[in-house]
Amino acid sequence: MINMDKILDREKILNEIEKLDESCVSELVFFDETSSTNDDAKKLANKGAKDCTLIIARRQNGGRGRMGRSFLSEEGGIYLSYIIRPKSTLYSALKITAGAAVAVMRAIKSYCGDVLIKWVNDVYIGNKKACGILCESAISDGGKSADFIVVGIGINVFGKSESFGGELKDIVTTIEENTDIDININKLAAEVVSNLYKVYKSLDNFDDIISAYRENSLVLGQNVYLFEAGKKALVNVLDIDDEGALIVKDEFSNIRKIGSGEVSLRFKE
Ligand code: BTN
Repeated sequence: MINMDKILDREKILNEIEKLDESCVSELVFFDETSSTNDDAKKLANKGAKDCTLIIARRQNGGRGRMGRSFLSEEGGIYLSYIIRPKSTLYSALKITAGAAVAVMRAIKSYCGDVLIKWVNDVYIGNKKACGILCESAISDGGKSADFIVVGIGINVFGKSESFGGELKDIVTTIEENTDIDININKLAAEVVSNLYKVYKSLDNFDDIISAYRENSLVLGQNVYLFEAGKKALVNVLDIDDEGALIVKDEFSNIRKIGSGEVSLRFKE
């Protein structure tokens, strides 16, 4: 018999959201398959979709990741995009980027320990990636405010890392691989969104969230390679500031602040 807790279902997600906090979703758009929920979200937001509209899909055939990469999105994962319209200015973007990782981390922790955040917003279980987050925003008002932000989240829930094939199998994992608890995917999706809503509503009062981010950081205190504009630099991560920016010291003892942008980190072997 098919276990329906393993299959994303619109009514079941709504039912779980109702149990947690119904104000966290104003509208739910559900797809069996779409190209990219972030693209759907941006189209809907440009047409005036409400704050807290949720787009969710069982699979994507054109899932996108950071830095122009693709994001493998087979059935068995959660692929969602959440449209928010923050009142505050652009500074919300980096905060929500970091905060989204805390939202996902908290939801995954009910299934397994050892859930950590790799700056800026990859969620790892052990030393393998279980979730990627891509935040995209539309800027208006001469760049002073974000008209909307789309928070796109992809979580590997069921399956084995081998099924990701190629290089991915060594660097990604799924929640199922790391837990003995039966996973209810609809409940998990609802928990992620409810946590994300809490993060969104805490943008002006971010202390708890950024503390959780720091406490669960995979990179704080580590030596890592920073890749930026085609250049590679070895840095030591000194701190993560209140907005989620990374404070690093380079080999020449220069201290720098790194916002998100097109920057990636890799661990020193
Ligand atoms: C990354 O790891 O580089 C970020 C991956 C983000 C994937 C999610 S899945 C839902 C949403 N739709 C997309 O096309 N991308 C994001």
